[in-house]
Amino acid sequence: MKSTSTKFTSIREAIKKGKGEVAIRGWVYRERGSNQKRFLVLRDSSEIIQCIIDRDSVPAKLWKDAEKLLVESSVEIFGAIREDKRAPTGYEVQVKNLKVVHFAEKYPLTKDASTEVLLDNRHLALRSRRLTAVMKIRSTVTGAIHEFFRKRGYYEFDAPILQPTQCEGGSTLFSVNYYNQKTFLSQTWQLYAEAGIFALEKIYNMGPTFRAEKSKTSRHLSEFWMAEMEAAWMELPELAQVAKDEVKFIIQQVLNQNKEELIILGRDIKKLQSSIQKPFPTITYTQALKILKEKENLNVSWGKDLRTIEEDKLMKHFDTPVVVTNYPKEIMAFYKPSDPRDPKTALCMDMLAPEGYGEIIGGSQRDIDIKEIEKALKKDKEDPRNYKFYLDLRKYGSVLHSGYGLGVERVVSWICGLDNIKDAIPFPRTMLRTTP
Ligand code: 4AD
Ligand code: MG
Repeated sequence: MKSTSTKFTSIREAIKKGKGEVAIRGWVYRERGSNQKRFLVLRDSSEIIQCIIDRDSVPAKLWKDAEKLLVESSVEIFGAIREDKRAPTGYEVQVKNLKVVHFAEKYPLTKDASTEVLLDNRHLALRSRRLTAVMKIRSTVTGAIHEFFRKRGYYEFDAPILQPTQCEGGSTLFSVNYYNQKTFLSQTWQLYAEAGIFALEKIYNMGPTFRAEKSKTSRHLSEFWMAEMEAAWMELPELAQVAKDEVKFIIQQVLNQNKEELIILGRDIKKLQSSIQKPFPTITYTQALKILKEKENLNVSWGKDLRTIEEDKLMKHFDTPVVVTNYPKEIMAFYKPSDPRDPKTALCMDMLAPEGYGEIIGGSQRDIDIKEIEKALKKDKEDPRNYKFYLDLRKYGSVLHSGYGLGVERVVSWICGLDNIKDAIPFPRTMLRTTP
């Protein structure tokens, strides 16, 4: 069997074929057997399949190689495929020829490896069926985001990752030594997007975002991917509708393309399906407090932000995502304007996911009143002069505009039903982890 001339198929294609001869290649996922018969489960990116080697029906050299094979060795297999209900994926291959591409050393990851060992060996752990399934779903999610915005006429627009100021609070900024001066890693694409809309009107982006989160939670990463949009002429109600449409589109795409991965993850698919069949409600922050008081006997004093525990209690009463608008202006970022109909509140929104996955989207209308922005910046001990370009945008043909950011890993966590956001990104970065 020469790799150059053999036409290999993926394991999934081989299973689809169902009978006859197949050539497949991949990595040994499991191996067991006796001195007469060996069972290899072969893995490639598409599927796994059981392969059987009978000592009596293969050349002696092949048998010898098969006996030495350890998990994660790479191999090429030629054989006959047939249905077998007892095999892990319903089919098995009777091996006629086997070429070892590389004999793996003893694999350091075992079934009972601890979470920390798995994270220390993330470069290897990625090969697990579980993480492979998550990464396939992540790829669907990011693909769906591009598709959603492009279909609606949004342009992709890029902002610098190195930025001179904060946008979402100075306490979570990562500073970078930039030719002996200080600059920061992007907390959001937003401020630059607000410049971009005056040229392109409707723009979106997806990129790495950095926050020095000091708390260790199952929802926070120090480096995560945010998918953001910004649109000229858009006000809060329309913004909320775009966010709802986007999330529904993402979930629908995953349901269309990743049923098998959701099954591997043990995800309750019905819950995801039903979550997008109904309209997503919009409530105000004040109404949220009322629900917490009446249904949870929980008193949050007006003006305090909703903490994770309160968001979770609120979401017990919904089985779809919910948009919460009009948070108290006082506790909001400097760019969120107050609502003329209720000036104590801001024209802003968060979308909360059901099943305890918390905030997946944050966004707002943008303040266009230079005086108000300067006042809010000063309150945050920021020098408005450092925001000159941002304030300029309010001087030359200013228009109402709005935007939001969606946390890609938060959405992937919810869709996949993950316990921890770390598994929603290939190589997580948290306060305590910067390797591998
Ligand atoms: O609510 P945030 O902070 O909003 C903004 O940054 C706006 N400037 C976005 C905009 O209007 N263009 O962040 C947006 C979303 C959150 O709702 C959450 O889903 C996610 O980003 N997020 C995080 N995800 C993982 N780890 C973290 N540390 C996150 N911080 C925010
Ligand atoms: Mg937020």
